[in-house]
Amino acid sequence: MDGKDDAPRLRPEVQNPVGSSLPAGDAPHTAPAWRDRWQERYQAAPWLFGRNPSAWLIGLDPILPRQGRALSLGEGEGRNAVWLAQRGLSVTAVDFAPVALARAGLLAAEACVRLTLIEADITQWRPPAGGFDLVLLMFLQLPPAERVPAHRAAVEALAPGGLLVLEAFAPGPWRDCGPKTDDARYDPATLQHDFRGLTVLELMTGLAVLGEGEAHRGEASIVRLLARRPPLDGRGHTPR
Ligand SMILES: C[S@@+](CC[C@H](N)C(=O)[O-])C[C@H]1O[C@@H](n2cnc3c(N)ncnc32)[C@H](O)[C@@H]1O
Repeated sequence: MDGKDDAPRLRPEVQNPVGSSLPAGDAPHTAPAWRDRWQERYQAAPWLFGRNPSAWLIGLDPILPRQGRALSLGEGEGRNAVWLAQRGLSVTAVDFAPVALARAGLLAAEACVRLTLIEADITQWRPPAGGFDLVLLMFLQLPPAERVPAHRAAVEALAPGGLLVLEAFAPGPWRDCGPKTDDARYDPATLQHDFRGLTVLELMTGLAVLGEGEAHRGEASIVRLLARRPPLDGRGHTPR
């Protein structure tokens, strides 16, 4: 999926514009200024994180479902969502930056797949409960007040037996990329707490060398979590 950068030529169908998804009179949890900053970043440099999926995600191919529904929270420009759709999943991608979603629509059209694109603040947006066989959170670096509701939404969205895939920058000295401060980096203990109730299949942290677009290039401290919501027991209940 490598190719030259282009301004988006195609406006995808986008549901739930951020403004209208919020109750009237309710201030957004995430400051609009933060969304504007993301918009400016995407406008200044297209394909910030590249057009190819995360190398770790590709490595999970044998365990990821090939049918059913996937949800990507903070999907950005579509690199991971398009790859999942090409593998057969029906993918919903949520992000609050319209410029990024427009590029996701473009990438999907080039790959001849369809994505459901939702423009929303994920700290406010509520997914259909139990609606997804796979939930993706890739480099969604949120401070605690936003991380907690976003992770709660991710758990709610998972169907029994569904997989959660999270990759993020971890605390540690800043090397080549990632947030400059630790408040929006995640350590394994925080993730274990946020996703308690899920069965951890893989949880690791350490140095990695990234080569994903201009923004994710070089050495960084990374945390990776693969977890499964327990399947229903014989009586249709979630085991405790
Ligand atoms: C570091 S980028 C990662 C993009 C993508 N997941 C990837 O790995 O290529 C973080 C993304 O999260 C989005 N984002 C951050 N906070 C958000 C929020 N509260 N609601 C929706 N999207 C958000 C940004 O617009 C941006 O696209």
